[in-house]
Amino acid sequence: MENTEKKKIILSAMQPSGEPTLGNYLGALKNWVALQDDYNCLFCAADLHTITVRQEPKVLRERSINVLKLFMAVGIDPEKSVLFLQSHVHQHAELSWVLSCNTQMGELSRMTQFKDKSQKHADNINAGLFTYPVLMAADILLYKADLVPVGHDQLQHLEIARDIAGRFNHFYGDTFTLPEPYIQKSGSRIMSLSTPENKMSKSDPNPNGFISLLDPTDTIIKKFKRAVTDSDSEVRYSPDKPGISNLLDIYSAVTGKTIAEAEKEFSGFGYGDFKLAVGEAVASMLKPIQEKYNDLGKNPDYVKEVYTNGASFASRLADRTLSKVYKKVGFVAK
Ligand code: TYM
Repeated sequence: MENTEKKKIILSAMQPSGEPTLGNYLGALKNWVALQDDYNCLFCAADLHTITVRQEPKVLRERSINVLKLFMAVGIDPEKSVLFLQSHVHQHAELSWVLSCNTQMGELSRMTQFKDKSQKHADNINAGLFTYPVLMAADILLYKADLVPVGHDQLQHLEIARDIAGRFNHFYGDTFTLPEPYIQKSGSRIMSLSTPENKMSKSDPNPNGFISLLDPTDTIIKKFKRAVTDSDSEVRYSPDKPGISNLLDIYSAVTGKTIAEAEKEFSGFGYGDFKLAVGEAVASMLKPIQEKYNDLGKNPDYVKEVYTNGASFASRLADRTLSKVYKKVGFVAK
């Protein structure tokens, strides 16, 4: 990252909790790539967040590296942006503690993700799951991020991060920048192909619900062919057609065409042809990403160098904020 003080700062992250999906790409990664020339960007694999749900340690380690490879494969340039693993920068966990002492139980209990995940993992409703948004606030506030490009599902977390920052600034004096969410209209809410009322998720146990960014072309086409639609036959965007609307959203985000243009293009087409066209558009978009990803797999030393350098850069920035915070709250200087 160049030290161009005038550029604003971006931080965003992704959990290495499963196979990253088309939703992750269209809602987040694609925008990260587009913004990296105009902002000073930091992107991390949020491995600390991932253990809020029980993980197989070996798999978590592999997925954490794979997420960073994917960041690079989609076009994030380590010469321009800082890439790292969250657990390599200890200041995240430390700031999270201070912020948790400035966050109310009531505001955390309103988080829809906590409610959803406690239902899904009823046997492991741990304290980390509850304080998850505080750690996410720490990720963002440590770097004084101005902008946080995310999908729509993260909006509530961004709002609480702003609230925590505002409250801290109020009690201790101006310390944190209030981050703005960056959520594009197109692609910010990609839904499951099998249950289009639910978000497409990398932790979906049904692989037909999501497109993994690493799915081969024939799997992608097969999954789109199976996508749930409705008994009608008109390719039209409408709340009573969640399956078709989702496919139109995907097509629009992938091709850059508007929904109206896409509806026009497929008017008179059957659902089968439409689904095939969406599948082909997605597969051809993902092909070069997959090739680059595979190439990076042959070069683990390079990948390690990127995340090692990234962590040491991030750590220096994070330390400045953390020292300031420690001083403000009244900890004795070393
Ligand atoms: P995660 O790992 O679930 O998702 C990573 C990014 O992908 C977006 N996304 C989607 N966008 C559109 N449609 C979908 N179906 C879809 N599914 C996921 C997410 O909105 C996100 O932008 N808590 C975060 C990770 C995190 C973070 C942060 C993000 C940790 N610290 C600091 C921003 C800033 C999460 O679980 O994202």
